[in-house]
Amino acid sequence: MASVVMNASPRKVEFFRHDLGEEEIASFRDTLSSLFLTTGPRVAEFETLLATYLGVAHCVGVTSCTHGLHLALLALGIGPGDEVITTPLTFVATANAIVYAGATPVFADVDPATGLLDPKAVEAAITSRTKAVIVVHLYGQMVDMKTFRALADRHHLALIEDSAHGVEMRRDGIAPGQQGDAAVFSFYATKTMTCGDGGAVAVRDTNLDRRLRQLRYHGISKDVMARHATPYAHWDMVELGYKAGLSDIDAALLIPQFGRLEQRRHKRELVVRGYRDRLEATPGLSFLRVEGISSHHLCTVLTPKERRDDLLRDLGQAGIGVAVNYRAIHGLTYYREQHGFRKGQFPHAEAIGDRTISLPLWPGLPEDDIDYVAERLRDLMRVGG
Ligand SMILES: Cc1ncc(COP(=O)(O)O)c(C=O)c1O
Repeated sequence: MASVVMNASPRKVEFFRHDLGEEEIASFRDTLSSLFLTTGPRVAEFETLLATYLGVAHCVGVTSCTHGLHLALLALGIGPGDEVITTPLTFVATANAIVYAGATPVFADVDPATGLLDPKAVEAAITSRTKAVIVVHLYGQMVDMKTFRALADRHHLALIEDSAHGVEMRRDGIAPGQQGDAAVFSFYATKTMTCGDGGAVAVRDTNLDRRLRQLRYHGISKDVMARHATPYAHWDMVELGYKAGLSDIDAALLIPQFGRLEQRRHKRELVVRGYRDRLEATPGLSFLRVEGISSHHLCTVLTPKERRDDLLRDLGQAGIGVAVNYRAIHGLTYYREQHGFRKGQFPHAEAIGDRTISLPLWPGLPEDDIDYVAERLRDLMRVGG
């Protein structure tokens, strides 16, 4: 995340603050005094809680969303020679996972009104080698999963949801994981639910669940907890897997957060509404359209392209934590040089990426901080306009 370095402004509004506290400390202490620290009973408890929360049959805890996306692609049988279509308006992890799996990333443009992957652009990018689509529920807003499920079924493609931006989002009564073949979550430090670093993959299919568990533990057929529960027996390694299991320490921090998810989401919604109420009428500023229930992971405002980088600098100098989510990733050096993409290929994603600024957002961000951020931005727009 491209956070802008701030100078020594007297006032500081952090980009993000977590609210982990006494409940997480108590849960962490319980785990420290238990037998397991690694992928054990707390992870199993967390997986059941998340599966129930989402209304999806299985969840598999992993070390990060990045690794979860990688394992989901492998579990779905995607590899060299296959093409996977995704959005260029995302964090690099989405496309990197495709490369890790040995497949070829293909980008399709976004809807300029929402920033979400455009199903028509995806359909146009399908070739005989296309095997999967990774949609990204951008900033906490879900794509229209009914449309993408129908598209995937029509073309016999696997459908993966990059749901790094929240577990709380819903659209048409659908949760991440209910329509996709796999939905992958991030519990990175700035995410709406966090343990510092962690992730999970939600799947409906029992066989996929088994494959993911195997892949997250070296491709060994029997996991640590199963081995502990029974007398010693030789185990086998049946495929090349990875070391990517969530730990009980991480799960201990995540479990107490279920009770606060909705309250936190509501508080973030109030912050976003606060920014929109204060800024929507400002000439030169606009917001993307939001449909369904957003997790409100990020609040982005669109600014004039030629002024965006100066605004980032000036907001930073005013002590305001800002970021850019995201400069369209097909324009980054690696994707240009190694995968042959060029600027100008996905104009809607680029237009958003060149104009967007993410504002400070966390549950309980004080009202006078929202005022301060909005006033500074309005002042800067007035001066430069
Ligand atoms: C859209 C998106 N996908 C994937 C990731 C990767 O998540 P993690 O840091 O858990 O690997 C992120 C993290 O910022 C993200 O924003």
